[in-house]
Amino acid sequence: MNITITTDTINAILADLEIIIVIDKNFGHPFVKDNETFKKAGFKGEHEETCLIAAEGRLYVGSESIKSTDIRSAVAVAIRSLKGTSFESAKIASYVSHPKCTAVLRGMAEGIGLGAYQFEHYKSKKSILELQKITISTDEYHGYALDIESCKRAVKNGQITAEATNYTRDIVNTAPDDCYPEVMANMALELASKHNLACTILDTEKLKEENMNALLAVGRASRHESRVIHLVHKPANPKAVVTIIGKGLTYDSGGLSLKGADYMVTMKADKSGGSAVMGIMKGISEMNLPIEVHGFVGAVENMIGGNAYKPDDILIAKNGKTIEVRNTDAEGRLVLADVLCYAQQEVHADYLFDMATLTGACVVGLGNYTSGIMGYHDKPIEMALYAANKASGEMATRLDFNRYLKKTLKSDIADISNISNTRYGGAVTAGMFLSEFIDEHHKDRWAHIDIAGPAFVEHSWGENPSGASGAGVRMMLRLLEKLCNEVETH
Ligand code: BES
Ligand code: ZN
Ligand code: ZN
Repeated sequence: MNITITTDTINAILADLEIIIVIDKNFGHPFVKDNETFKKAGFKGEHEETCLIAAEGRLYVGSESIKSTDIRSAVAVAIRSLKGTSFESAKIASYVSHPKCTAVLRGMAEGIGLGAYQFEHYKSKKSILELQKITISTDEYHGYALDIESCKRAVKNGQITAEATNYTRDIVNTAPDDCYPEVMANMALELASKHNLACTILDTEKLKEENMNALLAVGRASRHESRVIHLVHKPANPKAVVTIIGKGLTYDSGGLSLKGADYMVTMKADKSGGSAVMGIMKGISEMNLPIEVHGFVGAVENMIGGNAYKPDDILIAKNGKTIEVRNTDAEGRLVLADVLCYAQQEVHADYLFDMATLTGACVVGLGNYTSGIMGYHDKPIEMALYAANKASGEMATRLDFNRYLKKTLKSDIADISNISNTRYGGAVTAGMFLSEFIDEHHKDRWAHIDIAGPAFVEHSWGENPSGASGAGVRMMLRLLEKLCNEVETH
């Protein structure tokens, strides 16, 4: 989608369609011209409700407020509603509520890019969005003089963010037999060559050399060999060093502790954390942020077979800790244990984050739309919470560790068990399992983000389509931008 921003008045812009946002049901606003038709059409101006008056070339969408988060989802829904229409160009006013605040423009640009996304790869008949070009007018009823350069930057960063998120969505939505560890590794190499990133791929031989036995055990029964991907964005004088690790289970059948049929479907999305890492690396390289960022992906397929790892096995992780396997479906934490150790060996970071579709328990506790953030120290947790809830349009909440739940991971015969002995608090116990693989240097610098809820939802919600949402990408890009003090505050 081509987005341009201009100081021309909205009336001076030539376009097939004008998109008008009805803020908080304010039908008295001069932009709103079709009140009589609204009555007939039953349009109430509810958040994300749309009303297309095709003959007049006007599309209305309701937004609860002028906050960037509401504008993002309202605009996305408006764009999505245009699929199947023949409008090729549209114009929209900027709805900026404060002269210094360009956050709403960022939200708008993200909404346009995220709303236009569709995954049609496997459809013989593609439904085409004809809309190619959107012009945003900064000339507004409030009469502020906006700084056009900062407006342009907000729109540009919004587009980069949306494209990075859509890139992640594409990877996650791809069928498991078309996207297995080797394919993910090749995608990373291609991304690196296009975006000036360094890229190292660890194959089976190298993974053995590195003693990543827990990860290798999970991938053993698959016909696709495991890979660990390491991508690096390294600017000249970085302000900070950040490591981000993603769970990249290209399929999670549950292994010998096999999932039931209803729970297995959608498990192609178990690579969402790793796919988010790839999207984040694309985004930061395009924004060219002055932060050194290391992205690691543990790309593995959890399958069944005669050589599968099994409940009762004892695995020795990279850091020498022994793990009693009591459930092969708790595989993500085994993969992450080794990748966490490897990443910390390779990089001494200022901040360390991991993102994973780690537990069904997190979805039970928080619902489909919200990520759970855990760790030992407030700082990295609060950074992630702020970036998610206040700036990016993602939703996240904190889940606290405690010493009593930690005890439930005890094993009689190994250092730790891969599942807890209680059916409750599964998201927290999984996070506490990971904490066993965080070294002293990183303990206060680490946060674990369980994205099992929002990563893949089988209906559209706000700016997210049915299927992969690209969870984690927007949150982490905002976090990294904030670290550079470049992010808009609102
Ligand atoms: N990949 C799943 C978690 C998951 C479930 C993600 C639903 C998205 C939606 C993970 O590997 C898993 O199977 N976890 C088990 C852990 C249990 C065996 C302790 C779970 O949550 O049931
Ligand atoms: Zn599993
Ligand atoms: Zn899994």
